[in-house]
Amino acid sequence: MDNSKRLEYLQAIGIDVWIPRTFMPVVSESEPEAEGFTKEETTGLELHTNHIGTWAELETEVTNCTKCGLCQTRTHTVFGTGNKTADWMIIGEAPGQTEDEQGKPFVGKAGALLTEMLRAAGLDREEVFITNILKCRPPGNRDPKPDEAEHCSGYLQRQCALIKPKIILAVGRISAQTLLKTDAPLTKLRGKVHELEGTPLVVVYHPAYLLRSLLEKRKAWQDLQLAVTTIHKNKG
Ligand code: URA
Repeated sequence: MDNSKRLEYLQAIGIDVWIPRTFMPVVSESEPEAEGFTKEETTGLELHTNHIGTWAELETEVTNCTKCGLCQTRTHTVFGTGNKTADWMIIGEAPGQTEDEQGKPFVGKAGALLTEMLRAAGLDREEVFITNILKCRPPGNRDPKPDEAEHCSGYLQRQCALIKPKIILAVGRISAQTLLKTDAPLTKLRGKVHELEGTPLVVVYHPAYLLRSLLEKRKAWQDLQLAVTTIHKNKG
């Protein structure tokens, strides 16, 4: 994506960008980690399971899942969409109303902002894989219960094992805390590169939160930059 397009997207999501007179790369592979960013190793959700199966098997199992009570209130399961061999795996919290209706993740208002955030980072939705901790909508969009996350964790582990992403973006507090098995607040979790079974994991603000707190959009952009820098370093 060329720089002017990226700037357009950044402006669209409400981020002011300072452009020096000369070209300002969004990512510089030789750049040191951004100020205040540290590398963090956390023992989180273990991304291994005895049975991985095929993608088709996994999708069918999720569609027919009755492991918890959410199967009684859902309209559709939300397996995830995108590239099954993506470098980027984006993991949100749980489907909301629109996602439940359409059977696709991040298709409501927050989803539109997530799409813009990804574009600003030079990524099309189709080239990443987007999913959630929970594959079914909790009624009234309440927080996922620990046992619901536990029942769903095998599906996410198998998705990770099949995709083998080069980076995981944990979108929002619930996703980050569940994946990293911690109660630490989001402010403590963002701005660092965590590791999940050897895969770097970066925590970003949830777009639903950003829709309410416009002032945090700049920080969201910093989170994305950290993720882009990390994946480029690991590829290089
Ligand atoms: N919020 C999420 O965390 N996931 C979705 O799919 C939609 C909204």
